[in-house]
Formats: sequence, C-alpha cells, structure tokens
Amino acid sequence: MNSILKSVIGLRVKGSCISGTFIRTLAGCAAEAPRKKEFPRTMKMSGWEIHSYGGIDELQFSDNIRIPQIQQGSEVMIRIKAASINPLDVDMIGGYGAALLNTLRRGDIEFPLRLGRDFVGEVIYRGIGAPRNIKLGDTVWGVVPVHKQGCHSEYLVTDSSYISHKPQSLSDQEASGVLYAGLTAWSGLFLSGDLGNVCNMLRSGGRSEKKKRVLILGASGGVGSMAVQIARYEKAQVFATASADAKELLSQLGVDTAIDYRDEQFLSQIHSHGPYDIILDCAGYGPTFASTIKCDFTSYVTFSSPLLKNTDSHGLLGGSIRNAMSLIEENAKGRVQNTGRGTVKWGYFLPMKLGIEYLKKLADRNQLQCVVDSVYGFDRAIEAYQRVKDGHLRGKIILDLS
Ligand SMILES: NC(=O)c1ccc[n+]([C@@H]2O[C@H](COP(=O)([O-])OP(=O)(O)OC[C@H]3O[C@@H](n4cnc5c(N)ncnc54)[C@H](OP(=O)(O)O)[C@@H]3O)[C@@H](O)[C@H]2O)c1
Repeated sequence: MNSILKSVIGLRVKGSCISGTFIRTLAGCAAEAPRKKEFPRTMKMSGWEIHSYGGIDELQFSDNIRIPQIQQGSEVMIRIKAASINPLDVDMIGGYGAALLNTLRRGDIEFPLRLGRDFVGEVIYRGIGAPRNIKLGDTVWGVVPVHKQGCHSEYLVTDSSYISHKPQSLSDQEASGVLYAGLTAWSGLFLSGDLGNVCNMLRSGGRSEKKKRVLILGASGGVGSMAVQIARYEKAQVFATASADAKELLSQLGVDTAIDYRDEQFLSQIHSHGPYDIILDCAGYGPTFASTIKCDFTSYVTFSSPLLKNTDSHGLLGGSIRNAMSLIEENAKGRVQNTGRGTVKWGYFLPMKLGIEYLKKLADRNQLQCVVDSVYGFDRAIEAYQRVKDGHLRGKIILDLS
C-alpha cells in the first residue's frame, strides 16, 4: 500500500497539495469499478507534446497536461518509469501516417499529440475488468497502439491487454526498449514470415522443427536485433547485414554470418549464402529490393510498407489500393522471371498479447536482451529524439522518468 500512496503522492494538483483525505479516498477505492471523475480535473502531469506537424523543435514540454482518465473496466493507469524512442516517433512529428491514424482515432482530438510506444511503469490504478494478477504497485512493461496517445508523459491509461509483468531478467530501462521493436519482429517472422506455428509457440514444444535459414537486413537496429534473437531461439541459421562496426554486436546477439552492407561485394555475398526461408527487411529497403538481391527465398517480408505514406497522399481508399497494387506488382515480377523467388509481403507492428507473452518467455529464459545505446533524462527528450533521427544507433534510446 505504501507504494500506491507514494505513487499517488507523486501526482500533481495544480496550485495545491493533495490532501490526506483525498489520498485515503483514492487508495481506498483503487480496486473498485473505475469512475470517470476519480481524479479531479485540476490534476496535472508533465509530458512532451506536439501541437502541429513539423521538425523535432515542435516538441514542447508541459507540466500542465490533464491526467488521462480510466474509461473502460479493462484499463489501467500506469506511472511511467522508462520509455523508449522509436524511429516512428520521429516520423510522426512530421505528420507520417496522420490520415490513417486520424481515421483510427474515431474523432479523438489529434493535437496536442503525445508520442512514445513502449514503456515500463508501475500500476497505480486498475479498472474492475483488469486481470486479477495485475495488482496495484506491480511493475509492468507495455506497448501503446499507434493511434493512441503515447507514453512520453508521467502517466498513461492503457488497456490491460497491452501490458504484462516486466521480465525480471531486464532492468526497467532495458525492458522499456523491447516491446515495440520486439512485436514488430515477432509479427514479421511468425505472422508474415512463417517462422513457426504461431498457435504452438507459447508451449515448450512450439519451436520450429526444421532449421530455417533467415536473413535479417538491418540487424543492428531495434527491430533487427529483436528479430535475430527470436530467430536464434527458434534454432534458425541467422545471416545478418549491418555496417562493419556492428560486427561485435551481431555476434553477441548470436548471428551466424554477418555481412557488411557497405562492402562492394554486399549483393554477391547475400546471393552466395542463399537460398533463404525468410528475408526480413528491417533496413528500410522496401519491396523492390526483393528483385535487386537476385536470390531465392520463400518469403521476403519488409517493414517499409507504403501504406501510411500512400494514405497520407491519396486518402484511405486510394492509398490502400496503391499499397495492394505495389505488392501485386512486385510478386508478379517473380512469377514472370520464373525464379525460385517466393512471396513478397508486408510486416507490421501488432500489439498482440500473444506476442507480448512470447517475448516475456524469451526474456524469462535469458534468451532476450535489449542493447541500450544511451539513456536520457526526461528533460533531455529533444536531444534523445534528435539522436534517433540521426540513426546508426547501437541499441535503443531510452528516456528515464524514474
Ligand atoms: N511497418 C511497421 O509497423 C514498422 C514498425 C517498426 C519499424 N518499422 C520500420 O522498420 C525499420 C527498422 O526500424 P528500427 O526501429 O529497427 O530502426 P533502426 O533502429 O534505426 O535500425 C535501422 C537499421 O537499418 C540499417 N541501415 C541504415 N541505413 C542503411 C542502409 N543505407 N543500408 C542498409 N542498412 C541500413 C542500420 O544499420 P547501421 O546502424 O549499421 O547503419 C540499422 O541496422 C525502419 O525502416 C522502420 O521505419 C516498421
């Protein structure tokens, strides 16, 4: 109970202190059904927001943000301890995906917009429908769907299906960098790439039976480094590309064969190690690279889908049609050339409970690490976003709110 009170005391009330009566009321009703007006409207939190699209200088710090309210019984309120910054956050400042995301928001206000997709924090309030094993004071890791307000703020309300207990093997900062990239890699390898049986993979016997050959393009990045570890756990033979200075990192992650993408012989090296069951593009090459590499594969999965860009430029319907057309075109090329090329597919981040549990299982078995490039204090978020924008990271960029 002390930790709950400490958390609650951490909340700010504009212009006044929280009274002892309010704390008792709040602590006393914490396990009851959520009531919309549980927190006074005057209660504020701090966070980073944008008020219009543009460059990183659009980010503004505010300590006058209304604390989000629990609206559904299955939701929980979390005090954020650490959160990561992903390339998507930087892209969203520029308006990336706004057309589709506004459709998904179903009338929720677009601005001010808070970014941040994955976090570690403490549960300070839970709806009556939240799972019983999620208790007040528990430390959880979680992820925020892309159309929801992000977690680069002191508090977050999210559905309990997007959180689970933080794995013990990872520090708060490490764990906060896993889920957005990890769920993207998981969905690309299992749902698009057919690495193994998605229904069996939570059981101990669910690992891929045949040793698959997996090539990961951009293996030193957030998504790529998660994909390497998943593929290794599934006993695949892992080939990976990154720049030469990431070679040590790749071998530490368990890559069998590293290829330098700046080497003149890059394409011929990829070709000589083929064929591959799965090629996972985590380097932004897109679908056309499947033709450039001229080697056989069963699935080529790219995370650089033009869906969001196309819907930004051509609207929801026009953009979706263009997206489908580009995939059909790329796959038709393979058929015409009559090579051993398989199917070109998109991969997407999916905030699925099954994926969160899978990644937790790997971490609990000490089979998942999160390499942290640097940790920034919450007040230095602008520098941290700039570091992500500059790219060529050696691990994740983390914001520390503890
Ligand atoms: N569709 C989705 O839902 C979804 C979700 C998440 C991410 N993504 C996309 O997936 C990609 C990876 O995301 P991330 O978070 O892992 O990004 P990241 O951490 O910035 O990693 C990027 C990787 O690409 C490599 N790279 C950079 N420039 C390259 C080049 N010219 N040629 C070859 N490789 C290059 C980097 O290697 P070096 O550092 O060694 O240069 C690094 O390994 C991004 O394009 C991102 O937008 C899509």
